[in-house]
Amino acid sequence: MALNIVIMAAGKGTRMKSALPKVLQKLAGRALLQHVLDRTAPLQAAQRIIITGHGAEQVESAMAASAADFVRQMPQLGTGHAIQQTVPLLPASGTTLILSGDTPLITAETTRRLVEGCAGEKLVLLTIDYSDPTGYGRIVREGEAVKAIVEHKDASAEQRQIRECYTGVMAVPTAQLKRWVMALNNNNAQGEFYLTDIVAMAVAEGLPVLGVKTADETEVLGVNSPMQLADLERRFQRQQADALMEAGVRLADPARFDLRGDLVCGQDVEIDVNCIFEGRVELGNDVRIGANCVIRNARIAAGACIHEFTHIDGESLGVSVGEGALIGPFARLRPGAQLGAEVHIGNFVEVKNSTLAKGAKANHLAYLGDATVGERVNYGAGSITANYDGANKHRTVIGADVHVGSNCVLVAPVEIGAGATIGGGSTITKPVAAGELAVARGKQVSISGWTRPAKKR
Ligand code: UD1
Ligand code: CA
Repeated sequence: MALNIVIMAAGKGTRMKSALPKVLQKLAGRALLQHVLDRTAPLQAAQRIIITGHGAEQVESAMAASAADFVRQMPQLGTGHAIQQTVPLLPASGTTLILSGDTPLITAETTRRLVEGCAGEKLVLLTIDYSDPTGYGRIVREGEAVKAIVEHKDASAEQRQIRECYTGVMAVPTAQLKRWVMALNNNNAQGEFYLTDIVAMAVAEGLPVLGVKTADETEVLGVNSPMQLADLERRFQRQQADALMEAGVRLADPARFDLRGDLVCGQDVEIDVNCIFEGRVELGNDVRIGANCVIRNARIAAGACIHEFTHIDGESLGVSVGEGALIGPFARLRPGAQLGAEVHIGNFVEVKNSTLAKGAKANHLAYLGDATVGERVNYGAGSITANYDGANKHRTVIGADVHVGSNCVLVAPVEIGAGATIGGGSTITKPVAAGELAVARGKQVSISGWTRPAKKR
């Protein structure tokens, strides 16, 4: 039986006080609406329709890759009016699951329960008991039977005592949904077309209405303000942290851990406080991440140690760190840094688009850009590859066992043969043959009897 998913995303989100449409605000680095799409992907719906309105162009272009269909609701006359816009797109039968684009943490399990409960024949509402139900639509029951949803503003004093609320999620037989929403009116306190009025219509027609209660507040919390967004962010981060800890990852403090993407960990991984992982990050067995690291799109092999305050950003090229490598503190690895086993990158060292073979070391204050560095190379403090001539970038090739002294400039393109030594303070512009010593700096002179100038009085 066909399943169609409709996601309401036309509202303004006034309380966010943002130029960005609310459903594009980010939770863990992803748009709220993207979370809803991702979480309902396992349902394998025949079609997903996103209702846009405020910021429609922005929302549609941000979600262009989703394979969803878009319908616009202009102006926004209520949730029932929103669903009216989808009627021409919906098939003649099956089940329609209705969700909100600002409620990102709905679980696939709950939505599956609703869809299975509906089975194209029953109206199934997701409900929750709130200790403070102010503002929500109330579930009016007679005995067990659901009779209606009454919006807070329309509710009597007695109805306002009801704590069971509508969450904004329902599964509806598609044929009836299409008919019912076209018959809605806006004779209510807000002058809006309420989707929730279809409940009374179903009851009047004798169609079964079920209220399915969730105990998990997090999955139905919507985002209306920056405070609610931050609250949901912490809840989501805690869920991710718990899942990692259950898999054996040792987080120093789950409250000071942020994952904005996917983190895959081997066994005995330790992560200290205040680290941020973005994009896709893979950590091998026994990897240790020190406090205050930011790591994005990188693979870190077994036994490597990333010391405190290290920034690794692979962007689209990625960064790889070999087995047993030691990185940081205060290191910066940029796109295309490929570090072999046991490489050491120390403080204030920047590596970009460079390959370092096993055991190579750059321990202090250095830059390696567009370089190929052989095994066991020792790259001195303060040395840099001058890879950019103002127009183009060039490569520096450093053979195995080369020793580059401190404060050298290797002007690319240039090649240094295996085992060569570069004297400290040299500016190297010509190739250096294997095994040779190259020194390219002013000769030291000593002037005896020289006196410093004295200040004139
Ligand atoms: C709605 C429900 C209420 C429920 C609450 C749960 C109605 C009438 N009421 O109320 O019973 O307890 O959600 O959060 O449905 N939207 C549109 N077009 C519109 C209006 C809204 O797309 O014209 C979208 C919003 O962007 C949002 C969703 O629908 O994603 C819900 O709208 P909102 O205004 O938040 O509904 P509530 O008044 O909170
Ligand atoms: Ca709302």
